[in-house]
Amino acid sequence: PTTRTYDFVVTEMEGAPDGFTKPMLVVNGLFPGPTIEANQGDRLVVKVTNQMSNTTAIHWHGIPQNGTNYYDGTAAITECGIPPGQSLTYDFSLDTFSGTTWWHAHYDTEYTDGIEGALIVHPRSYPPNFPTWDEDLVVVLTDVYHTFSGIIAAELAAGNGSLSPILLQVPDSGAINGIGQYNGSTNYFDFDLKPNKTYRLRLINEGSEDPIRFSVDYHSLTVIEADSTLIEPQVVSGVAIEVAQRYSVLITTNQTAEPQGNYWMRAELASVATLPGANADIRGIIRYGGNKSLPTASTDPGVPGSGLSDLNVATLVPAIAKTPLDSTKSYVVDFTLTQSTDGGAIAFMNGTSWQPLTNTSTLLQIVQDGQKGQSFAPEGPSLQLGNQFMITEDTIQTVDILLVNQGPGGHPFHLHGHAPFILGSNTGTFDGTGINTVNPIYRDTFLVPNGGWTLIRFVTDNPGIWAFHCHIAWHMAVGLLMQINSLPSVSAKFDIPQTILDQCRV
Ligand code: C2O
Repeated sequence: PTTRTYDFVVTEMEGAPDGFTKPMLVVNGLFPGPTIEANQGDRLVVKVTNQMSNTTAIHWHGIPQNGTNYYDGTAAITECGIPPGQSLTYDFSLDTFSGTTWWHAHYDTEYTDGIEGALIVHPRSYPPNFPTWDEDLVVVLTDVYHTFSGIIAAELAAGNGSLSPILLQVPDSGAINGIGQYNGSTNYFDFDLKPNKTYRLRLINEGSEDPIRFSVDYHSLTVIEADSTLIEPQVVSGVAIEVAQRYSVLITTNQTAEPQGNYWMRAELASVATLPGANADIRGIIRYGGNKSLPTASTDPGVPGSGLSDLNVATLVPAIAKTPLDSTKSYVVDFTLTQSTDGGAIAFMNGTSWQPLTNTSTLLQIVQDGQKGQSFAPEGPSLQLGNQFMITEDTIQTVDILLVNQGPGGHPFHLHGHAPFILGSNTGTFDGTGINTVNPIYRDTFLVPNGGWTLIRFVTDNPGIWAFHCHIAWHMAVGLLMQINSLPSVSAKFDIPQTILDQCRV
């Protein structure tokens, strides 16, 4: 296989994605960071050097890491983190993975400050009759916070900010490929394209809180991928993207509504509340008229006369069908976001709130002790790993997890190392109906609606410790995370690379 090597240097710097100068954490001086592009079957070798004053770890969102769980890059779970001044070379195979995804820091809320970028893996082949396109473009969408994330997270946890804990989580603005608008700034990211071509836009929500609705004025979008799963194409007017989700959409540059050939790309943040001066109407430009003026449309014209509506995730159908086996184990996991007695925000999954281990990781403890972790199920020995909640499965199982959201808010959950089937999701109480086991969508990040539930199914054939958490940075920071130890007897025998063992020495 081809080996692709990248050098990542993580530093602190000031930046102004939306025109407002703020402290940032970045890779190679860039926001968003470098795009990694590879082919399925390649081996990826990324040397990460930490030149910040804090520890870091880089996670490769959605990559299965089959046999290399210790390179999953999840601080306190699969590694201790790269100390300041040190480096770690992540080294893993892209054999069983293809599609659009991203990499990001997985240490506290560091990714909110800028340590993130796209990760594109081209598949060996596409299904027969799958649509084609002329060119491929990456569109990284984010919310933007003017306050350093560590300060927001600390105030949220302590409940002592100048604003209420709910308002504290709200972004000031957003950005498209690193450029946004705040306080009247008029910098726009623009794509200079050719007319009468079809482009694949790989939309990635690398933000920390807000769902972002993406659309292009006067253009329909043909959705062909959800997370890293190719889907039966659907023509829509816009897509709402939860934090950490991705969609690929095709657009054709053949419209005439704007005489100069300049069209707004819109990224609308869904903040329920806004900070004073905040801007939720983020824009970029798609040009194909050879002219550099601004689009004329001030409000979103949609796709006039088309009768199209926005993507409904319940209608997603994979282009490559996989049939789920019947489940052999099922768990109910309820979660809630609430206030602790001292007034700060705290989250619980089945009654426990995750707190990262210090100077060790779950994986390291399991390898050292040869045990399988604390389980809430009545199976096997239990090992105290701090305040952590874990599911352990000793033989390959087909596991159902019913996530029950006791609120408040909707929560985009992500299961590391897997793309679970999403068998159903709805508001209200789960009553056993509304389940689809015929070619259900499988994807790595999915919403659990406010006051509702989502039922997922996956196979525990990938050994290791996998984080399972709400991807809203603020919620993970207050404990909305649990872990799954698949095939514990295999996990306990992992040969953890020396550099990772060395990270955990105090
Ligand atoms: Cu995108 Cu726990 O990760």
